[in-house]
Amino acid sequence: MLTIRKRLGMADMERLLDKAAKLIRRARAVVALTGAGISVESGIPAFRGTQGLWEKYDPMEYAHIDALRAHPEKVWRMLRELQQIVEGARPNPAHLSLARMEQLGFLRAIITQNIDHLHQDAGSRYVIEFHGSGHKLACLSCGERIPRHLVDLSSIPPRCFCGGILKPDVVFFGEPIPWRALIQAQEESKNCDVMLVVGTSAVVAPACDMPYLAKDRGARIIEVNTEETPLTRTITDIFLQGSAGTILPKLVAILETMV
Ligand code: APR
Repeated sequence: MLTIRKRLGMADMERLLDKAAKLIRRARAVVALTGAGISVESGIPAFRGTQGLWEKYDPMEYAHIDALRAHPEKVWRMLRELQQIVEGARPNPAHLSLARMEQLGFLRAIITQNIDHLHQDAGSRYVIEFHGSGHKLACLSCGERIPRHLVDLSSIPPRCFCGGILKPDVVFFGEPIPWRALIQAQEESKNCDVMLVVGTSAVVAPACDMPYLAKDRGARIIEVNTEETPLTRTITDIFLQGSAGTILPKLVAILETMV
């Protein structure tokens, strides 16, 4: 027996989903910004929050480029643990929903902070990897990029043909955002009229600047998150509180009726 509060909550969610779907349907260009929360239901831990990776590993000790240079073996022990989790992960209904939205013409691009490649594995075609991709390793000495599956991680740190230490081709703290991804993300954010922000704590710049860029140009912000973020009570127009794997399929189901 559902309590009255539960029933009201569900009715409220249905109303918000309908409002979000109408906004998306009327939009000229919808862009999604995703964070680790969209991959939690694929078994990849988020960084912040109770089960977050940074609860177990201090990011300044394990995810800063200076830490990798100073203690490569120690950092690679964490990286290898994360690589094994990511490589066993598959897209969840949230990733599949965004791929379907693109297919239906309701989503122009995804700007993702994630390095797990799950958006592409789900079928999304225009994905801007703002923090790089775990699918390649890059040499700290010569800059060579090597596909991840060609590198044996049984001995760490892995080394390049030149003898240099390899790192995942992702952005560590203390490193710049790849300039092409930054420019593309800024352009898409400035030109969209709806931004769908999914599963990000919105605290790490410059990724978290994208929703503000969009808002400044008149875009509406739809946020999907299990918890509130600094965006929720400031620039978010529609807050769909809950797990992305539950909410996005419901949103797409409504959009399917609008094609
Ligand atoms: N559905 C929707 N949102 C979720 C879910 C879920 N199932 N599970 C968790 N979340 C939300 C959390 O409430 C949180 O707001 O996802 C967000 C995850 O936040 P972070 O762990 O901080 O991940 P992210 O925002 O991607 O971090 C940004 O920080 O450490 C760096 O480079 C790293 O790309 C990462 C960046």
